[in-house]
Amino acid sequence: MKKILVTGGTGFIGSHTVVSLIERGYHPVIIDNLDNSCRTVLDRVERICKVRPTFIEADVRDASALDAIFSEHDFECVIHFSGLKAVGESVEKPMRYYSNNVEGSIALLKAMRKHECWKLVFSSSSTVYGDPEQVPITESAKLSVTNPYGQTKLMVENILRDLSHADQRWKFTLLRYFNPVGAHESGLIGEDPNGIPNNLMPYIAQVAVGRLESLRVWGNDYDTPDGTGVRDYIHVVDLAEAHINALEHFKPSHGCRAYNIGTGEGYSVLDMVKAFEQASGQRVPYSIEARRAGDVATSYADAGLSAKEIGWAAQRGLAEIMRDQWNWQHNNPNGYTEQ
Ligand code: NAD
Ligand code: UFG
Repeated sequence: MKKILVTGGTGFIGSHTVVSLIERGYHPVIIDNLDNSCRTVLDRVERICKVRPTFIEADVRDASALDAIFSEHDFECVIHFSGLKAVGESVEKPMRYYSNNVEGSIALLKAMRKHECWKLVFSSSSTVYGDPEQVPITESAKLSVTNPYGQTKLMVENILRDLSHADQRWKFTLLRYFNPVGAHESGLIGEDPNGIPNNLMPYIAQVAVGRLESLRVWGNDYDTPDGTGVRDYIHVVDLAEAHINALEHFKPSHGCRAYNIGTGEGYSVLDMVKAFEQASGQRVPYSIEARRAGDVATSYADAGLSAKEIGWAAQRGLAEIMRDQWNWQHNNPNGYTEQ
């Protein structure tokens, strides 16, 4: 059974990918410092898969912990999710972001080189496109970032590209996720943000279960059909499966390749509210507020390259996203915290 190292594997996207890996016959080994996740995730994955994933609680910046893990296991590939992702916090605490996201990636790459593991799938983000000049966004669009979080993603992308030029044994696949949402259809794993959510879908879901009073819509004066921001929302299980396609499509002269992971469809904030209300039968009250600093009007993917080169395309639409988001939130109103 092929072993895959999954950094950040107890997090939102990592946990769904661990389930997909197990279902596809891989043996994932998770390293996570539980900075933004908890051990309950392992119980839940075990309930879904009937297999408990191997878990090591460690920081990815800890060189001796990495050395021990690579000495014990022979990995086919690494999937690198670990890192911090809150844009606002990255502006206030940039060092925390550069350290976790960039130093963490460098420590991982050093351990991989030492132990001759040369394949890595990296969690990048559509944030590397900044305010796009045109939509749908292709992988060859200009890259530009507006905050330290985005900088860390672009820096790691650049590090990986440079390494692949310097030593052709390296093979890197950069997956640029658009907006990951939804949850596993079992309702056992999903997104459990700390404190008040920054992102739209967990916010809407928490309004629907009564944890929050009302959604604040950040601006209705954008140049979009209803004036609210348009994004490409991708079901997290589709996203998880993209990682399996990525690790099964490394080519002999692979180098460093980037793929958009989105549906190619854009939906507005109000489209999302309406679709969630339909799926859940709950009302989601909202108010229109001023624009949020740093937001762009419209972002959605041209996902053609990932279909062509790694054979991946999203299978789940808005109805499945809303059904699974509601199922998760409804079954776990307080996330992984039992009450
Ligand atoms: P998440 O916070 O749920 O998962 C990240 C995991 O990494 C957490 O379990 C956390 O405990 C762990 N972690 C953080 N720093 C670590 C460290 N130094 N050592 C070991 N473990 C560490 O986030 P997610 O939504 O699952 O995102 C996964 C990856 O995808 C991140 O790199 C994120 O930047 C990227 N991404 C996320 C989104 C999104 O909207 N969720 C969009 C684009 C890209
Ligand atoms: N929005 C609201 N109210 C809220 C939250 C969001 O109106 O309470 C709006 C935003 O203004 C935007 C849309 O909903 O128009 C989506 O916002 P999110 O915060 O859910 O997502 P973003 O597109 O702003 O950013 C997310 C991650 C970034 C990542 C990017 C692309 O937060 O880290 O997706 O993957 F880079």
